[in-house]
Amino acid sequence: MLLMNDALVAQRVFDHIANGTTDMGDQVWREPVANYRQQERLDREIEQVLRRFATPFCPSVALADAGSYVARRAAGTPLVAVRGRDGVVHAFRNVCRHRGMEVAAGSGCAKVFVCGYHGWAYGLDGRLQHVPHEHGFPGLEKDQHALVPVSTVERHGLVFVNQHGPIDESALEEFPPLLADGQRLGGIVQGLGQAWCEEVRYDENGQLLTATLMDYALPRAAMFPRFELDMTCTPSPLNPLGAKGIGELGTIGATPCLVSAALDALAPLGVTQLDMPLKSERLWRAIRDAAAGGTR
Ligand code: FES
Repeated sequence: MLLMNDALVAQRVFDHIANGTTDMGDQVWREPVANYRQQERLDREIEQVLRRFATPFCPSVALADAGSYVARRAAGTPLVAVRGRDGVVHAFRNVCRHRGMEVAAGSGCAKVFVCGYHGWAYGLDGRLQHVPHEHGFPGLEKDQHALVPVSTVERHGLVFVNQHGPIDESALEEFPPLLADGQRLGGIVQGLGQAWCEEVRYDENGQLLTATLMDYALPRAAMFPRFELDMTCTPSPLNPLGAKGIGELGTIGATPCLVSAALDALAPLGVTQLDMPLKSERLWRAIRDAAAGGTR
């Protein structure tokens, strides 16, 4: 396949703009709907990924005190995470060992989890403490009927769970840098998207023309090179975690950076002003007008 260099690609784009044409594929591409809706794919992903790797379950701060708990479904499984009297967070399948009722709902603080069905009571460590009318269960060994534990690690202000097997704690060490890098990259791309392609347009009747993602240009990963990131870490003194917001860090600088770069590049051609977004057509017109002796 012949790959065009940047100059040829740019020329081709400008030619299309000038001629009102566009590139078309040889045939219509049809993506099978099943690729988006296939239950079997989703089931495999839940079973092989979401239940077998450490995943965040809730923020640590949601379990502030002994007895604080959060109950919710994780990858389809009802779980409950609770801070024990020893200060350690434990997680269990939120399933009563009698007939499977959930023993906790939502979030709150409890001294004991009492099943709403027949009153079996479990301690914060999951042990079955009390069975009403226990004489009706001859031979029941309470210590064999604790809530089923789930691997749990509290790290980086989050509670992680792994439903099948122990948690590889070394993998969690990568988590904060990954999160921080992801947020910074997202911020940078958001800012560049605003400068480059995102635009809400209306026609002369006030009708919104960019109401769908077919019309509204969002920045996508393939549009950008790799960014080099660096970090100066100064923990906040205002909270125990030292945490600060980082999500918009890249947004602030990226927008003026791209516009300034475009202005610098086009300054020799006489272009002195550009309005965002810097779409190809807008740049092309600015260059053409400047060459024709216009003001832009
Ligand atoms: S189902 Fe929980 S006590 Fe019966």
